[in-house]
Amino acid sequence: MQSLLNKKIVLGISGGIAAYKAPELARQLIQEGASVQVVMTEAAQQFVTPVTMQALTGNPVYTSQWDSSIASNMAHIELSRSADAILIAPASADLMAKLSLGLADDLLSTLCLARDCPLLLSPAMNKQMWEHAATQRSAQRLNTDGVAILGPASGFQACGEVGMGRMLEPVEITEQVIAFFQKKSLAGKKVLITAGPTFEAIDPVRGITNHSSGKMGFAIARAAVEAGAEVYLIAGPCDLETPLEATGKITRINVVSAKEMHAATLAAADCDVFFAVAAVADWGIAKPAKEKIKRQGKAAPSIEFIANPDILLDVAKAVKMKGSKPYPYCVGFAAESTDLEAHASDKRQRKGIPMIVGNIGPDTFASDFNQLLVIDETGSKKIPQAEKLQLARQLIGLVAKKI
Ligand code: C5P
Repeated sequence: MQSLLNKKIVLGISGGIAAYKAPELARQLIQEGASVQVVMTEAAQQFVTPVTMQALTGNPVYTSQWDSSIASNMAHIELSRSADAILIAPASADLMAKLSLGLADDLLSTLCLARDCPLLLSPAMNKQMWEHAATQRSAQRLNTDGVAILGPASGFQACGEVGMGRMLEPVEITEQVIAFFQKKSLAGKKVLITAGPTFEAIDPVRGITNHSSGKMGFAIARAAVEAGAEVYLIAGPCDLETPLEATGKITRINVVSAKEMHAATLAAADCDVFFAVAAVADWGIAKPAKEKIKRQGKAAPSIEFIANPDILLDVAKAVKMKGSKPYPYCVGFAAESTDLEAHASDKRQRKGIPMIVGNIGPDTFASDFNQLLVIDETGSKKIPQAEKLQLARQLIGLVAKKI
């Protein structure tokens, strides 16, 4: 799936060592379907060449407003007129200061002043420069002017220092650009999601778990952040990266057992929407052994199970009404081996929730794809096979209309 299909992006590159990541960023934007038009400042060309950017994007690279070989010397107006967004990565302290004052003394700054499309900046600079009151003032002013500032992150810097000011990685910038273009159907809403499996310890080295990969829950978390929500992601053991972490709009709480997931979820249950996507173990171990259980000949140990708390049921029991709408709006998931619609409908009734989503198999666990059957008070609706992120966006669209 290409999430930037038909999007025209002007990629501005200003002078800073992080410019060495601009070719990779251009490549990723193109991979997502965008067409990329590069504009470079004079300083940027000290770090990466226009030829590199031209070869990667397949488009001429603009470096000066004084280039008389270009048919139109109104490039600064035309480039922004046809663009869906201008993205500047890296954005240097100098460029940010300039843009915050509305200065226009080279092609890139002139283009920004003359634009009628959104502007996104990904700052990159030494930590002292980032922390300097002047830069903070620039960032604040740009923010007030409606410019989106992506990052920066904290970490190792080219100057040898460690701190705030590192440019986000190209993959993070690309994810944020994609998010920028998504409909903000959950702006101002708080969304809680459980995802992944749980692990029930038998002893310090053994336990019982399941095949849930967490991919669907994480895709819903990403789609919810894209839609403008503040997201709490309660994750069972899985090695997936937290989506859109650099936005600061997602809080991930890692848990292991169903009991821990229950406690973490209930503590965060004051939310607008709750998606119970986790494959929670139905039973835990009554008395997990403190030491590793030793093998005793051929005799197998007997393990006593106890029922785990039903997280979704407990959140659903505490639902209040906010006006005429349930708060939180609870969405359950169902994976069944037979008769999905009947079992899922029954589950929806039993748990007293307004919506349940059936995973239409056969192989939904580790796959990036799925098909969904959405059941609510109006009946059932199939969302055909697609990537989990695409399904998640559609599901978020449906839920947003309910709250
Ligand atoms: O019938 P079952 O309990 O398996 O229904 C599945 C739904 O309930 C899923 O949304 C799952 O996340 C949720 N669930 C839960 N806590 C449990 C068991 C299931 O939240 N202990």
